[in-house]
Amino acid sequence: MRFGSQFEISLNTLDSNFQKVKSICKSNEVIFMVKADAYGHGLVPITRFSFNELGIREFGCASLGEGTTLRKELPKDFFEIYIFSDLGLSDPELREFYSALRLTPIISNERDLSIFLEDENFKNIPLCLKFNTGMNRLGLEISRMDEIIKTLKIAGRKSIDHLMTHLACASLSIENKKNAQQFERFEQIKTTLKSSGIKVDKTSISNSGAIEQGAGLKESHVRPGLMMYGPSSLIPAISSQSKYDGELISSLKTKIISINSIKKGTPIGYGANVCPASGNVYIAALGYGDGFSTFNQGVEIEYMENTFKVVGRVNMDMAHLLLEDENTCQLKENDSFVIWSRETDNFKRICERSKMIPYEVLTSVTSRVPKIYVD
Ligand SMILES: Cc1ncc(COP(=O)(O)O)c(C=O)c1O
Repeated sequence: MRFGSQFEISLNTLDSNFQKVKSICKSNEVIFMVKADAYGHGLVPITRFSFNELGIREFGCASLGEGTTLRKELPKDFFEIYIFSDLGLSDPELREFYSALRLTPIISNERDLSIFLEDENFKNIPLCLKFNTGMNRLGLEISRMDEIIKTLKIAGRKSIDHLMTHLACASLSIENKKNAQQFERFEQIKTTLKSSGIKVDKTSISNSGAIEQGAGLKESHVRPGLMMYGPSSLIPAISSQSKYDGELISSLKTKIISINSIKKGTPIGYGANVCPASGNVYIAALGYGDGFSTFNQGVEIEYMENTFKVVGRVNMDMAHLLLEDENTCQLKENDSFVIWSRETDNFKRICERSKMIPYEVLTSVTSRVPKIYVD
């Protein structure tokens, strides 16, 4: 646990991001993806706020464990929890969690489909199917459509509650051939089901990248994750095409433990990497044990109208921030230092320098850094 460093999360900003998402998809229902501890921001507080204050009624987790935690922590609030990937349906004991806690698995293979249709635990659980339209990760196969329809009919099913697919390249232009192909295949699946007498109630395809481009909005639902937390998921080359202008909901703050004056060429930290210039080195209470990766070495961080450079090797507990000689700064020992917030481009720079995607940077912040919810 840290006392000086904190991961500050603005719930007002989450609210305003949600309003911006809704202004793009005015008539769609939202499944808010809160897997991976709400992309690092805290599964339970983020869901609680989104349910109570934003009126969101459907949430997406990756694993049965995440869904179980969510339901147990917020037992009185009625909202749908979908489990997307790590379902555990082959374990009879785990299946009981679905009926006991009213969790909905997103079925993406035929073995799980058979279990779902046969096991009493799923008697009152919505039937949600995810098809593979080109991602080739999880998903029922289009080539097996006849068999899947037969299985549904034998089980007496005449409808699917939610039909979905997932885009492999939503961060690229929606006109990209791969995206176009996935949309086309999704249409084919709907047509085949309809012509076989299987009714489809709800549908969804779009995650952040697609929503940002206004794509997939004729489906009943959208499934935003990253954009709700602020960052765009589009690659820089097409970022100008985004209809979305979200703000980071988080600030990562740390504390300056000590300040040392240093000469160019002096070894610093593990591995004795030399300091690239003379100046003051601010030792920050943030290392890879907090989620600040060694890949951040060399990144420039703006703070108090100065540019600090991460020098030497980031270690488990600390990072060295160099302010070159010609600059002046009022920063003192024990002062707070903001690594990223919505006020600067530091988050983007960290992603670029570390070559980590925003998803990875956000989910990297460890439990040692306390989460503080503001507003
Ligand atoms: C099936 C599914 N839908 C939606 C999302 C949300 O994606 P994003 O965070 O890019 O909006 C994810 C996340 O990976 C997902 O796996």
